[in-house]
Amino acid sequence: MPDEPGFFDLVGNVRAMRRLKPDPVPEALIWKVLNAGVQAPSGQNTQPWKFVLVRDTEHKCWFAERYAAAFESRFGLIADPEQRGPHKTTGQLGALYHQIDHLHEAPVILLVCGKRDWPFKVAPEDRVGLAPPNYGAVYPCVQNILLACRALGLGAALTTMHQVFEAELHEHFQIPDTYGVVVAIPIGYPSGKFGPVTRIPAEQQTYLDVWTSGEE
Ligand SMILES: Cc1cc2nc3c(=O)[nH]c(=O)nc-3n(C[C@H](O)[C@H](O)[C@H](O)COP(=O)(O)O)c2cc1C
Repeated sequence: MPDEPGFFDLVGNVRAMRRLKPDPVPEALIWKVLNAGVQAPSGQNTQPWKFVLVRDTEHKCWFAERYAAAFESRFGLIADPEQRGPHKTTGQLGALYHQIDHLHEAPVILLVCGKRDWPFKVAPEDRVGLAPPNYGAVYPCVQNILLACRALGLGAALTTMHQVFEAELHEHFQIPDTYGVVVAIPIGYPSGKFGPVTRIPAEQQTYLDVWTSGEE
């Protein structure tokens, strides 16, 4: 289809879409998105990801309440709109406030879980407590999910604030300790505008052959 964006248009337009419509998303599209996710590579093709697709309103409210409280505790955003007074409604801050106020209305909150696995560089004798989730494998899957959402005209935002209440999250959604919740992605039709991302060009982030500047 000639009107479909090509890869390079797509990759430059995958912004965190925090303003979502509550309109339902057809289940077939969600499977298309998840099946794009699972095309990602993983070490020895272990595919160490699992998904929890949260659609139930009570579960979404449970998550949204704690997500907003986490933003309040870590970034000083005021979770309760009545306590907030005048606040920014535009830009990233406005979008974040919109997200915390409306998260429970997102048609889907996708939890992407990663199997815990010690990185090679951690020697067996240094392995204390739970291993981290296999981030290296899960993030390519997450990026495929974000790209697939964008290709299908769906809005999505990679979020990680659930780390603040991850123990509770495990208990609530009955997620075993062998997995960590790597990201939570609210997905829905966008009410905000897609647009190009703002990034520093690769030419300014790259050294040729050896790292030549004094920057650490
Ligand atoms: C590791 C990681 C953690 C993030 N955590 C959150 C989050 O908890 N909540 C959120 O709304 N966005 C989160 N984001 C999205 C970024 O804030 C966003 O991609 C960045 O500010 C650039 O904005 P843009 O993608 O719209 O260009 C996260 C992104 C990454 C890669």
